[in-house]
Amino acid sequence: MADLPCDLREEAARKLAHPAANIVAAIASLELDAGMHVLDIGCGPGPHLGLFADRVAPGGVVTGLDIGTDLLAIAADLHAEAVANGTVRLQKGDLNRLPFDDASFDVAWMSALLHHIDDPMDALPEMGRVVKPGGLVAVMDGDSDGSFPCLPWPPEFEHVLRTAALRAQRENFGGSLSYLFDGYIGRKLPHLLVATGLTDVSMKSFANVESKPLSAHTEARLCRWFLESFGERVRDFLAPHDWNRLERSFTPGSPDYLPSQPGFFMARMSFLATGSVRT
Ligand SMILES: C[S@@+](CC[C@H](N)C(=O)[O-])C[C@H]1O[C@@H](n2cnc3c(N)ncnc32)[C@H](O)[C@@H]1O
Repeated sequence: MADLPCDLREEAARKLAHPAANIVAAIASLELDAGMHVLDIGCGPGPHLGLFADRVAPGGVVTGLDIGTDLLAIAADLHAEAVANGTVRLQKGDLNRLPFDDASFDVAWMSALLHHIDDPMDALPEMGRVVKPGGLVAVMDGDSDGSFPCLPWPPEFEHVLRTAALRAQRENFGGSLSYLFDGYIGRKLPHLLVATGLTDVSMKSFANVESKPLSAHTEARLCRWFLESFGERVRDFLAPHDWNRLERSFTPGSPDYLPSQPGFFMARMSFLATGSVRT
């Protein structure tokens, strides 16, 4: 494994061992049955493949597809036994041109990916194409407002951050982001599934709450999210003193470090839209 990115592998192994409550609940809501064939598009290093495999056993198969060869190598390593016995398959491919015949799967799932996609109306019909009539297309993602983290900080400061996030999205992040990001994809999901021609479109939300005691890893991941992922998107849209306040809130050792507050928690919502392929 020496040539694989170790931090990604460790992160995926951790998610596999301790899956987020919102993902577990969302996958449970799909009412999968033994023997089904599920496609996980943009599976990354495979944090959800085991959850699907458990739900379609015995006789079922989950196929993980990703564009990243390194990520698939990690998934293959973490799921070596399931890959060997055929219950997990891994496939390199692009979601806009899925390398599968029509109607190959009972369910096609995609999580935390559509917000990076230029034109969802290229990707979603492909998902529908590879699902059998009567089968399910399921897309899970966040939304910059609907999923904005709830934690015990002053509402006024949260308002400043939300406003910056909205401005950043509106002004295309000042053209400085190295990746596509539609922060408001969550609210668009049902409409997009209807436009794809799916029926019985429905929307559910699932919360994930991280509260004390936080593992050192969870605490570090949470701080990285605020300062690196979210921070990269909003920094240029915050006044310097607001950026400093955000930085102090998530820098260990700072007197304003939020995760050390007694009773600290962070809750976030994700949205799952599902639709059936016409029979
Ligand atoms: C943010 S990760 C999400 C991983 C996983 N689905 C999850 O929910 O944790 C997005 C994944 O989509 C993959 N990806 C990006 N563009 C893709 C494309 N055009 N086709 C297939 N996979 C893609 C990336 O390589 C990455 O593994």
